[in-house]
Formats: sequence, C-alpha cells, structure tokens
Amino acid sequence: MTVRVLGIETSCDETAVAVVENGSIILSNIIASQIELHAAYGGVFPELASRAHVEAIVPAATRALEQAHLDWGDLDALAVTYGPGLPGSLLVGLNFAKGVALARGLPLVPVNHLEGHIYAHWLITGAEGASPGSLVFPLLVLIVSGGHSELVLVREHGDYTYLGGTLDDAAGEAFDKVARMLDLGYPGGPAIEQAARQGNPRAHLFPRAWLPGSYDFSFSGLKTAVMRTLRQYNGPRPPRFIADMAASFQAAVVEVLAEKTAQAAREFDVTAVLLSGGVSANTALRQATRARLNIPVYTPPLILCTDNAAMIAAAGTYRYQAGVRAGWELDIDPGLRLV
Ligand code: KG4
Ligand code: ZN
Repeated sequence: MTVRVLGIETSCDETAVAVVENGSIILSNIIASQIELHAAYGGVFPELASRAHVEAIVPAATRALEQAHLDWGDLDALAVTYGPGLPGSLLVGLNFAKGVALARGLPLVPVNHLEGHIYAHWLITGAEGASPGSLVFPLLVLIVSGGHSELVLVREHGDYTYLGGTLDDAAGEAFDKVARMLDLGYPGGPAIEQAARQGNPRAHLFPRAWLPGSYDFSFSGLKTAVMRTLRQYNGPRPPRFIADMAASFQAAVVEVLAEKTAQAAREFDVTAVLLSGGVSANTALRQATRARLNIPVYTPPLILCTDNAAMIAAAGTYRYQAGVRAGWELDIDPGLRLV
C-alpha cells in the first residue's frame, strides 16, 4: 500500500515542505532558505526567522504539492517538526500543520528534528547515500549540525542509545563562530571548508579534546585557541594565513569527530555509519571517517544533509506506520532530545 506523507520543517532558518512516498521516495522537496536574511548578523536572528517562516510556509506547501502533482486529499498524513529548535520558528510550522490537519481531516505525526536527520538516510538518492534496503541494524549515527554533535547507536527503528555528545559548542556552531573570527561569512561551515582547500592543516597545531574514556566532544578550547592565535598575529591577514587557519581548525574538528566515530563503530560492531546533519556535508569529515573504517560510511546528498522536510516526512512515515499521532494539545519542545 502506498503511504504519502507531507513533511513540514521550520525549526531554524529553512522553511521546508516535502512529500515523500513510502518513507523513501521523494516526490517533492521545497526549501525556502533564509541564509541571505541572516548573513548580515553572522548567525540566525530568531525573530526574523519566525517572521520569514510566516511569509514562506503557505507558498512552500503549495509548491510541494504542485511539484508532487498531488492535492491535500491524496495525502495520508502530515509530519511536523516539534523540536528541538527556535521556539518562534517551531511554532509557525506546528500551527500551520495543525490548521491543515484540522481543515483536511489528516492525521498529524510529531517528529523530532534529530530523528529527521537520521531518516535522511532512508531516502532513495543513489550517489553516496545508502539505499534503504541495504541498511541493517545496528547502525551508528553521528549527528553534527549547528545545534548538535551526538553519537547515537540505533538498534532498531526508534530504538536509540546516546553514546556521547558535545559538552559545549556543537560542531557546526564552532565552524560558524570561527568563520566569523576569520571574516569568512555565514554559514561558516561551507566557507571554512572552501578556504581550507588552499591551506595547510598542519600550519597551526590546535588542540584536540580527546576526553578519553567517553564519546563526548568539546570544541570550546579549540575555539579559544583559534582566537588566541588571531590575537597574537597582529599583521595583515593575507588569504594564505586565513586558509592555513581554516585548514588547521577544520583538521582538529574532523580528526576528533572521525576518530571517536570509528572507535564507537568498532566497539558496538555496527554494520554501517550514518553521517547526518549540516556538518556531514564536509568532505574532509567524510574522507577521514571512511579512511578509518572498512564498513560503509553513508552520507546523504548535500541537499539532504542540511535542514529539509523530506527527512521529516521520512521519519514521520515510520512513526505514522507505528501508530503515532499528535493530539490537538501538541506543543513545541525547543529543547527536545533524541533519548
Ligand atoms: O543541520 P543544519 O542545516 O541545521 C541545524 O539543524 O543546525 O546544520 C547547519 C550547520 C551550520 O553550523 C553550518 O555551518 C554547518 O552545518 N555546515 C557545515 C558545512 N555545511 C554546513 N559545516 C562544515 N562543513 C560544511 N561543508
Ligand atoms: Zn538540522
């Protein structure tokens, strides 16, 4: 039987609506990005984000249905992100979803944004991604985004064990903050990655917080070390210097993430590693993780690494099939965790 779910994602700065069939076939994937709106602030400005969602949500939903050649009546359910994220942003998506669910008599399925990043791997994409049939539990997921850096063991659909996470800054947050220090613009991850291509990763030996005996991460010491090096260096900042700083910083983040992920993959004897979240777009991270393991390391295509609604619809489909439904009292949960 065909199941078609419309996903709605407004947890941060992308207004996204998508339609997914059977939890894996993307029929449409609309993403209205607010990157230009927030670039001037060097990060997401929460009130502007929620107001931009208000403007963009209806057109995004209309386009998602048009592109899928479907009408509201052709859908089986709506899946909506209810956390974690920015409160004002989450409220826009959730209230829109409730309105549509009420008006169209559609079931509403609540989705955890982090679970969405995991289920991006169940979408059929070809390329470096997994094919849904090839994923065999147990799996190890590294979720690295602007708000999260978590290592999670997945034993079954919906059965998560938290192995470790960041004690301070998230990996993406560290990329964004260091990019700001280096005047590389926003979002920082892609800007640092690009600058790092011209740089020497061994030019500056920045600290790696190994935190032995745990799968936790810490990036604040690294960030401070970058700042200290910048202060010591008083001269002009030629492109070569910026490139070396970017490459040395990226190498420190990537080495710790890849090494800890590889250790956990071996300890829990997983069949594959899934890299998820915006930072998993980073080529150096993908390469470093693959170089340490001889099991598949899957990465979704770039468009599905960063925030999107297809992943919410995919996660929502599994929840829908497991009988999960939201009541009308469903509220946002900005601090929602995976486990
Ligand atoms: O998953 P995502 O789109 O939003 C959150 O849920 O946070 O992740 C956004 C984060 C930003 O911090 C951005 O700088 C980072 O992902 N990012 C990258 C790259 N592309 C995006 N970090 C490192 N390398 C990249 N190529
Ligand atoms: Zn995200």
